[in-house]
Amino acid sequence: MLNFEELDKVTARAFDFADLSGTPGELYEPIKYMMSIGGKRLRPKFCLLVYNLFREGFPEEILNPAIGLEIFHEFTLIHDDIMDKSDMRRGMPTVHKKWNGNVAILSGDVMSIMAYRFMARTYPDMLPEVLSLFSDTAAKVCEGQQYDMNYESLESVSMPDYLKMIGLKTAVLIACSAKMGAVIAGAGSRISEAVYNYAYNIGMAFQIMDDYLDSFGDVSVFGKKIGKDILCNKKTWTLIKAMELSDAGTRAEIGRILGMPAETRGDEKISAMIAVYKRLGVDRAALEEVEKYHNAGYGFLTESGIGKKETMQLTAFGDMLAERIR
Ligand code: IPE
Ligand code: IPE
Ligand code: MG
Ligand code: MG
Ligand code: MG
Repeated sequence: MLNFEELDKVTARAFDFADLSGTPGELYEPIKYMMSIGGKRLRPKFCLLVYNLFREGFPEEILNPAIGLEIFHEFTLIHDDIMDKSDMRRGMPTVHKKWNGNVAILSGDVMSIMAYRFMARTYPDMLPEVLSLFSDTAAKVCEGQQYDMNYESLESVSMPDYLKMIGLKTAVLIACSAKMGAVIAGAGSRISEAVYNYAYNIGMAFQIMDDYLDSFGDVSVFGKKIGKDILCNKKTWTLIKAMELSDAGTRAEIGRILGMPAETRGDEKISAMIAVYKRLGVDRAALEEVEKYHNAGYGFLTESGIGKKETMQLTAFGDMLAERIR
């Protein structure tokens, strides 16, 4: 069984060999940039880790789909940064900032196509299941991103609607990545489903933590601007929880903060919202919620017939994801 250091090495080596170049340079340079500025590569790692629970070695037929998952993820980030008006990612300028919006759109487009190419380079008899899992997931990510956009202009969003949205935009790709490893390893449908459900819950925890870090993270570690979600009135876990915990007075205060224009009163908007979160104890509540999803995920593993050693390996990786600081 792999330790995390070996997993890092296997993943890094796979990307070293992946050819992502092409002409014109204007289209492919941003891809090289994006893929080299230090993403955590959690999705391919999750895929390879799960594969390795059931099979020895790492043939091309698993490395290529793992690479495809990361390319797809990074494509969604490039487009997400346009949609969220984000200037910084991984401590570096975002693609639309370093180049421009058109470059970011088109380089993202070609990445989504590249992702399919890599995904398809697996065992031919697995292709129908692999492509169907991946395509369903890819469509769901777009659906989640659209809900995320729709919600920005709504006054309030319910917790169930929020959870559905993050399930689509974030959790399904993490779940798909883990399941892909099980499917290509031929682990069988019962185990593949359990792995999916485990990783889905970890993915939910991961996005709630991402929302938490938007207010309570350390910019030098997180690599993204603190308060960017607050600036665009994003309906994050922290905001929705704050609304739930507020009395009429605090709810009116939150309404006033949401009404502050980001362009002229951005810093004030961010600090006022974070002060409300702290007053209501939303930070602690978020960490408790992360823990809940974590435990819910674990429940799927214990009922699945996956061995003890394998379960420990999966939960160690899940812990790392859910307890992220970056
Ligand atoms: C960021 O994903 C987008 C979310 C789903 C929250 P990651 O935190 O995995 O981003 P990188 O690839 O490591 O930068
Ligand atoms: C990211 O959500 C989800 C996808 C990119 C599909 P966020 O918008 O919260 O991610 P960050 O915070 O910009 O990384
Ligand atoms: Mg977003
Ligand atoms: Mg974003
Ligand atoms: Mg975020």
